[in-house]
Amino acid sequence: MVQGDYPKRFMIKNICCIGAGYVGGPTMSVIADRCPHLNINVVDLNKKRIEAWNSKDLNKLPIFEPGLDEVVGNTRGKNLFFSTNVGESIKKADMVFISVNTPTKSRGIGSGEASDLSWVESCARDVAKYAEGHTIVIEKSTLPVKTAATIKSILNSVKNSFKDTEKSFAVLSNPEFLAEGTAISDLKNPDRVLIGGEDHDAIEALANIYKSWIVDEKIIRTNLWSSELSKLAANAFLAQRVSSINSLSAFCEETGANIYEVSKAIGLDNRIGDKFLKAGPGFGGSCFKKDILNLVYLSRSLGLDEVADYWESVLQINNWQQKRIYKKIVSTLFGNISNKQIGILGFAFKSNTNDFRESPAISICRDLLEERAILKIHDPKVEAKDIEKALENEFSDIDNCNNKKSRDQGGYFVVEKEIEKTFYNSHAVVILTEWEEYKIIDWENFTKNMIAPSWIFDTRNVIDESDFKSNNCNIWKIGNGIKN
Ligand code: NAD
Ligand code: UGA
Repeated sequence: MVQGDYPKRFMIKNICCIGAGYVGGPTMSVIADRCPHLNINVVDLNKKRIEAWNSKDLNKLPIFEPGLDEVVGNTRGKNLFFSTNVGESIKKADMVFISVNTPTKSRGIGSGEASDLSWVESCARDVAKYAEGHTIVIEKSTLPVKTAATIKSILNSVKNSFKDTEKSFAVLSNPEFLAEGTAISDLKNPDRVLIGGEDHDAIEALANIYKSWIVDEKIIRTNLWSSELSKLAANAFLAQRVSSINSLSAFCEETGANIYEVSKAIGLDNRIGDKFLKAGPGFGGSCFKKDILNLVYLSRSLGLDEVADYWESVLQINNWQQKRIYKKIVSTLFGNISNKQIGILGFAFKSNTNDFRESPAISICRDLLEERAILKIHDPKVEAKDIEKALENEFSDIDNCNNKKSRDQGGYFVVEKEIEKTFYNSHAVVILTEWEEYKIIDWENFTKNMIAPSWIFDTRNVIDESDFKSNNCNIWKIGNGIKN
């Protein structure tokens, strides 16, 4: 069906997306690129973020995603606009995407587990206040099951309190499945698009936008609650696979089995599949942990304690994996890393992103710093100020008065721009993110400057052992143990 076949109130021309983050920015850029007939305003309360989205230099966009600069370059200022003008943009919109953060609550009921819906509620109130005529409101954020009922209730009660008979709303769930680092290709060629809702015309109006570049067979229509739950379930399943393979990585190290051989052997079974079977330092990112915590909280609220315990164990294995790597480093370096220098390669939670939220590097580095190690940290995309923020000032090598801290006790870190510097005078180098640049390190040369007996801890299977010609350095690989 083409746009012209719709009743007028479902002809979409103007879109507003509230939230210019990792989801809102890339998603709207791709929609703008694929649908030149649409006018898209991405709005955010964060002025700095919006300024960065508008920066002339496309290398200075607020997030790093391969291919993002190109789609933004194609569309910005034509049919894609970034601003802080939330009210005005909602007023003009036929369709509003809510794409704001939904972190875990840090206080009150459900603290540490439930999602904090303050930002979503505030968006619903803004939409209720500023919308004109008929507006399709879309949950793009990942939300607890039944949130659409809350949004509807807010929209309708605000509308009724203003006795505004001109306004009407349809609420849809359209969760996002993009992964960071591959966001643009995921958006251009998704495995599926999920639309949950009750209002047939609104569902088809949204499906019609996606149909500009995605075949209809990939657009799944469900009820609202299935859509909301499917998003939580998909993340829980993916995280569960990572915890499963990580649990077996420890088993391999104890027995002489090799996790890479095991992953390959089980992944070739079509029913299992070969994706998400890479052992590593544990999953990070802003969503897996928070979404599983949310699933655990909802399950307990529904009296489903066994279900809650089952999913909670996925998180327990993840924490355990991070702790066991840190303990392995300490025990290998003779149980003492105080004042010893250790290089850290990679701070982002995965490669091809500057995002470090919930990165395993944070917990592993903090534990090493607690043991008074001196860390030299390198990451090609995460900025030094972000690493400093994540590890907090107590571990920085600069004190509150801006002086270099005394260096005789250890327990501080320095951010290095050059990979080679993380090796110089180090007892160990730990690979925590699978960046391409770490796969082509000149091991023989770099490891010469380490303090013997020196160690490389490869938690990402980055090292091709045939390239590792250095005789004076030992390697430990996750799920494979000591190599020489
Ligand atoms: P983010 O923190 O990068 O961006 C959210 C933005 O919303 C922030 O810039 C914030 O300033 C803005 N915001 C909050 N309240 C606002 C308001 N009332 N008005 C205007 N702006 C407001 O978050 P994100 O990573 O883009 O994630 C957004 C949602 O998408 C979350 O629910 C997340 O679980 C989900 N999700 C994220 C990913 C991912 O890869 N990051 C993938 C799929 C789904
Ligand atoms: C994940 C999902 O893949 C997306 O579908 C989802 O939309 C998104 O969460 C979300 O809701 O935020 P993302 O967190 O960006 O995407 O990245 P993933 O590729 O899923 O990786 C998550 C973590 O698992 C990373 O730390 C990664 O290194 C780790 N991982 C992944 C492994 O350790 N092994 C693997 O085999 C795969």
